[in-house]
Amino acid sequence: MRIESLARFPLAQLPTPIEELKSLSRELGGPELVIKRDDQTGLALGGNKTRKLEFLVGQALEQGADTLITMGAAQSNHCRQTAAAAARAGLRCELLLNGTKPELPNGNLLLDELLGARIHWVQPSEREARLRELPDQLRKEGRKPYVIPVGGSNGVGATGYVLAMIELAEQLHGINRRVDHVVFASSSGGTQAGIVVGAKVTGFAGKLHGVSIDKDGRDGVPYEQELADIANDAAKYIGFDAKFTANDFNVVYEYLGGGYGVVSDLEREAIRLLGSREGIVLDPVYTGRAMGALIDFIRKKTFRSDETVLFWHTGGAPALFAYAKDLI
Ligand SMILES: Cc1ncc(COP(=O)(O)O)c(C=O)c1O
Repeated sequence: MRIESLARFPLAQLPTPIEELKSLSRELGGPELVIKRDDQTGLALGGNKTRKLEFLVGQALEQGADTLITMGAAQSNHCRQTAAAAARAGLRCELLLNGTKPELPNGNLLLDELLGARIHWVQPSEREARLRELPDQLRKEGRKPYVIPVGGSNGVGATGYVLAMIELAEQLHGINRRVDHVVFASSSGGTQAGIVVGAKVTGFAGKLHGVSIDKDGRDGVPYEQELADIANDAAKYIGFDAKFTANDFNVVYEYLGGGYGVVSDLEREAIRLLGSREGIVLDPVYTGRAMGALIDFIRKKTFRSDETVLFWHTGGAPALFAYAKDLI
């Protein structure tokens, strides 16, 4: 493997802590619960994208880029962290956000503006065309754009989570602890793909559960195949000789509720429980849903009482402020 020699721009405060969730475990009468705090990666309110952006920005700088372009929802955590990463690296940032400009920016959108990103509002139907046009337009202006895919989910970005898994294995070794299950939110795939590659690199024996946030697994290319493609690209990028197939990915599709960003009792209960029992803030779109799934797993006795389950907190809390009406 050649991880040490890959282009990488430092952005994250690592390792992120692992903490016990003793009150929550007691309350649910569940297995031992621990949480990995990637909401504390440290870049402009943190989150999972920081790890991916270390490698994406590293490659952008290596290629001589002066501008990062990426896209997402109006409350995209990925866009907020990309705007922050660009600022830290001395790059400009252009964001294609879905929808129309609201009267008052809030949550991640407010941060995008404060972090100096230029925002282009697009309708989903025109997004692909705008994504093709914008880099050309910037090149004509003499700029050197570097395009980051949705969620930073390609082989380069997923490399951040291969390393995260190596970090986790080292931490568990250091505290002499075994983790039997890892539960996390999965959406554009880079996190899950990286975790699965990292699990193979480290020989991690626990079961990995990616809770789908928005994909139902039936439309177009199966999500597991998308994950395998990203994982194979990541393995190639780091020089790890392994081949991944759709069968290597365990995706949970039962918690899609009303769709992406539609908050229900599942997320509301999870957010309030973690907040009131552990003083930890989840987000309404990703970690609220994934923790809601974990709580439901526990109630359905999916885990044995002598097992340890790790919830990987992937961040996103800034979006809470934009979802206030759905949460109270
Ligand atoms: C807070 C949070 N958690 C989880 C995810 C899912 O990660 P991935 O897109 O790598 O599947 C995202 C993606 O935007 C996110 O913002």
